[in-house]
Amino acid sequence: MPTIEKLAKWLCPVFPKAALSARACFTDHDLMDVTTVMTSRVIQVVPFVLVVFGATGDLARRKLLPALFQRDIAGQLPAEASIIGVSRGALDKAAYVAQARKAIADHVAPSDEAAATLAHFLARISYIQADADGDAGWDRLAGALAAYAGRVHVFYLATAPNLFGAICERLGRFGLAGDQARVVVEKPIGKDLASARAVNDAVGAVFPEDRVYRIDHYLGKEAVQNLLALRFANGLFEPLWNAAHIDHVQITVAESLGVEGRAGYYDTAGALRDMVQNHMLQLLCLVAMEPPAILGADAVRDEKLKVLRSLKKLDTDLLCGHNIVRGQYRAGAQAGGPVPGYLDELGDQSSTTETFVAIKAEVQNWRWAGVPFYLRTGKRLPSRVSEIVINFRPIPHSVFAAAAGRIEANRLVIRLQPDEGVKLWLMSKDPGPGGMRLRLVPLDMSFATAFGGRNPDAYERLVLDVVRGDQTLFMRRDEVEAAWSWIDPILQIWSNAAEPPKSYTAGTWGPSAAIALIERDGRTWVETIA
Ligand code: BG6
Repeated sequence: MPTIEKLAKWLCPVFPKAALSARACFTDHDLMDVTTVMTSRVIQVVPFVLVVFGATGDLARRKLLPALFQRDIAGQLPAEASIIGVSRGALDKAAYVAQARKAIADHVAPSDEAAATLAHFLARISYIQADADGDAGWDRLAGALAAYAGRVHVFYLATAPNLFGAICERLGRFGLAGDQARVVVEKPIGKDLASARAVNDAVGAVFPEDRVYRIDHYLGKEAVQNLLALRFANGLFEPLWNAAHIDHVQITVAESLGVEGRAGYYDTAGALRDMVQNHMLQLLCLVAMEPPAILGADAVRDEKLKVLRSLKKLDTDLLCGHNIVRGQYRAGAQAGGPVPGYLDELGDQSSTTETFVAIKAEVQNWRWAGVPFYLRTGKRLPSRVSEIVINFRPIPHSVFAAAAGRIEANRLVIRLQPDEGVKLWLMSKDPGPGGMRLRLVPLDMSFATAFGGRNPDAYERLVLDVVRGDQTLFMRRDEVEAAWSWIDPILQIWSNAAEPPKSYTAGTWGPSAAIALIERDGRTWVETIA
């Protein structure tokens, strides 16, 4: 039954007039949201076929198939939802379905619901052997897709980025890029501004921008979306969200793992391209942007773009070496024991690729003038933890005696992972007799405690947003290119620099220069504990 009719039926006994006017007042999209809230039921997406290029690769196995399976368990996939794996491997359908079964066993926790849904989910999957950079197999793909006319067609390019152009060109040439088709591309989109433009041109030659979905999986994380709720669904913070009340912002994305099996790719990227150009800058944008008029794709992306364009260029500061630090881990120890250094993992002692970056960024506009945004990210740090810390300004005058102790400034900590949640640190009186003693304590909202349940993976949200046609959590072309414009001068200066990255011991918080970067300003990194 269409959603509007369902709502009308639900309203009928309660508010007969409202039921009659339901269709007049709301769009179907509004009503899906209303009914979801009212009944906590999951609304199915429209019929679709998802074609995954790179179907046997890591992304498809670790993320896409498990995400789709989870949504199937939740009841969100309609009967007419199909998945076609495409790769150059000579597999038949049964062999690919066996791979999918294994991917799910490896990445989805067993449960009664999972067991009950598995056969049904696997029956959605088929496989076509085709070349990404040759025409072999494309007639078969086109023939198979002809059977899915009337559905949304999603082409997910889970391949190396150098194939994006070739695949899109064939999608166009084989008549598969019509109005019903959308294309999804993963980072890295280019390795600098010029190459990003070339990728965007190649994709854009076939698909208009409103059918291109550039994934930054950080935007699909629940806690990142919650940042929008925190800022724009609460009246409390927005009046304080500016340079008059905020002293500085810290964004940390720390990983405990090294480069694992990805050293080949990572060595051509480094932390600046791999994490800062996309994830870290997107987080900065969500913190710094103006409230959009509506939570719509272009409204949100327009505001993020303004932030990216307001970032102070780092080129001249860089020459003084003050606002950016790059590091590379050497052998050290972590909780699990000794770990090798980056160069040994890579098997090349001459690499100057950075595995750590700390940056002092500034957003040059009225709201943020003079408020530093300190960013740091790295591999082989003490723990896997990502946090945004909003540090408010100190109180202007203390009415307390010195014996009450030091009055710390308030701090809002948004924990992205693990243990997603929000802590607002406030000064409080230590309970008990003995006079006034003050202490910084948190108002603590753990999402797990507040909401319970499983925390869905970012890809569950993002893949179905593509089917829904909602681009809000995807990067627009101009955003990607504005981010590269800011990153490019740093890359250029590094490529000419005589000095290699600063070394840090695996299992520590990066080179000491990263601590100096913030302490020079009389501030300190907020301790993050996983
Ligand atoms: C990816 C990077 O985009 O993000 C990886 O390429 C990194 O190097 C990963 O490990 C981190 O993602 P998450 O979701 O584990 O924080």
